Amino acid sequence: MSKTLITSALPYINGVPHLGHMVGCLLPSDVYARYMRMMGNDVLYIVGTDEHGTTSEVGALKAGMDIQSYCDMNHERHYNTYKDFGLSFDYFGRTSSEQNKEMTYHIFEQLDKNGYIEERTVKQIYSIDDQMFLADRYITGTCPHCGYEKARGDQCENCTQVLEPTDLINAKSTISGSSNLEVRETKHLFLNLPKIEPLLRQWLITKEPFWPEVAYSIAQKWLKEGLQARCITRDLKWGFPVNKPGFEDKVFYVWFDAPIGYIGITKQWADENPKNRNWKDWWYDATNVRHVEFMGKDNVPYHSITFPATLLGTGENWTQVDYLKGVSYLTFEGGKFSKSENRGIFAEDAIKEFPADYWRYWLMSNIPEASDTSFTFDLFASIINKDLNGVLGNFVSRVLKMTSSKIGNEVPSGGNLGALEEKLITTLQARVNDYFKYMNELEFRKAFAELRQIWVEGNNYISEAEPWVVIKEDVEKASQILRTCINLIRIFAILSAPVMPTTSEKMLQKLGLTLSDIPSIKDFNIAQEITAIKAGTPFEVGDMLFERIPEERIAELKEKYGASK
Ligand code: MF3
Ligand code: ZN
Repeated sequence: MSKTLITSALPYINGVPHLGHMVGCLLPSDVYARYMRMMGNDVLYIVGTDEHGTTSEVGALKAGMDIQSYCDMNHERHYNTYKDFGLSFDYFGRTSSEQNKEMTYHIFEQLDKNGYIEERTVKQIYSIDDQMFLADRYITGTCPHCGYEKARGDQCENCTQVLEPTDLINAKSTISGSSNLEVRETKHLFLNLPKIEPLLRQWLITKEPFWPEVAYSIAQKWLKEGLQARCITRDLKWGFPVNKPGFEDKVFYVWFDAPIGYIGITKQWADENPKNRNWKDWWYDATNVRHVEFMGKDNVPYHSITFPATLLGTGENWTQVDYLKGVSYLTFEGGKFSKSENRGIFAEDAIKEFPADYWRYWLMSNIPEASDTSFTFDLFASIINKDLNGVLGNFVSRVLKMTSSKIGNEVPSGGNLGALEEKLITTLQARVNDYFKYMNELEFRKAFAELRQIWVEGNNYISEAEPWVVIKEDVEKASQILRTCINLIRIFAILSAPVMPTTSEKMLQKLGLTLSDIPSIKDFNIAQEITAIKAGTPFEVGDMLFERIPEERIAELKEKYGASK
């Protein structure tokens, strides 16, 4: 069995996830993990919270809590939200864990031993009004490269260029808004990226064919501009204290230990069951592991340059990324999501309005792959009403109701497959092959457009076969048509499971099945699957799968979530 390691960018503990975060890394990683498991692979799917840094300190301060309790509380909140969204991670860990500390220390020691860490005295921005050194994102100003006025001290979100806070023009503290800043000297440790660059270039060449456009071009742009040494320590309290004499009063920079968190979290998972699990099977001298990472495009440079370089610099055989899925931004009704302005729909609220599968399907079939995409309630309702309620939901209820009222609540017997069914099998097999091909290539928009077409084939078949007409003359033939349609319900349920796991279970339940009854979908053969459910099997009509979203409800939602602001 081949091993697939799946990681999603680790969300900041202080952030409140909105639909953009869900579609940027969390949902696609889950959909892919579910799909790979169904394909019969040995999957390890790792997520967790990114907990260090000034953002957390400021968050705790605002909440009036000590930082540990603040992180404990928010970790729980993230966990619950993602569970509600149906994320099937094997472990949801924390970058602040003891295990991650151990990994971070080890990796740092290796880098230091190999001569890739250097000491420098730096000038850093101290905010006199805030009485602290201002780290990275707490300074904003104008980007010296592109002129964007709201660039952060660590990176310009407009041109993706990595910055040092002192690069910014007209710098201001975002904590107090004060521009009463002064530059002070302090000693820090740097990761000497230029020295690792030759190793990195060599490694990048081996990756070229596997990198999707967005990720590869961002990485190349970085390399072209030349790498700079990166400061990996900070003058903060909250973080891992630096394990080097003379630096004990500093902590590692949040971005140094965050991606190491993928490994640290795997160790948290392994520590819970040390007999059967070994983190090294996935990360260290591991053979046969394919590592697929999911993230928003702003995270691509760190994952394609800085983190791989960090691992290469250890001189050890760490598992690197094999495929990096970079996702563009989702906007809200054409603008930004903003918690403070009460604008946009956040994951915790979303789930109170509609079941997770509605969001999962909408987001995955509209995932911003090539370019940014806007979420609008109109589009959302139209897709739920047309694709889910109209195409899939109606097919299921129509077939089961018709069979129940005309024949009874058991899968009808009699009749043989004919020419129409031959055609159905051929068409469906071709579509299923395409669907799998797109899923394998992580082309989710195309994959879910194909899935929708698969459902449409069910409707095409029933309207051509006309069982309601046939039954008047040939009960056997009508029975066969309805039996075929019931089998289509099972097939649709299986194929929809990666994106709509709860709906799939509901569909299967009507037929007395559950997803755990479904063997691997590798070599999924429609000619066989189309007769999997035998005559005589009892079924239940049950409830409609989806609810239509009426006009009034759309207007209400727009109002409630600030769509017109
Ligand atoms: N917390 C970061 C963000 O939300 C992502 C960190 S990914 C990690 O943008 F791997 F570095 F943890
Ligand atoms: Zn810029």
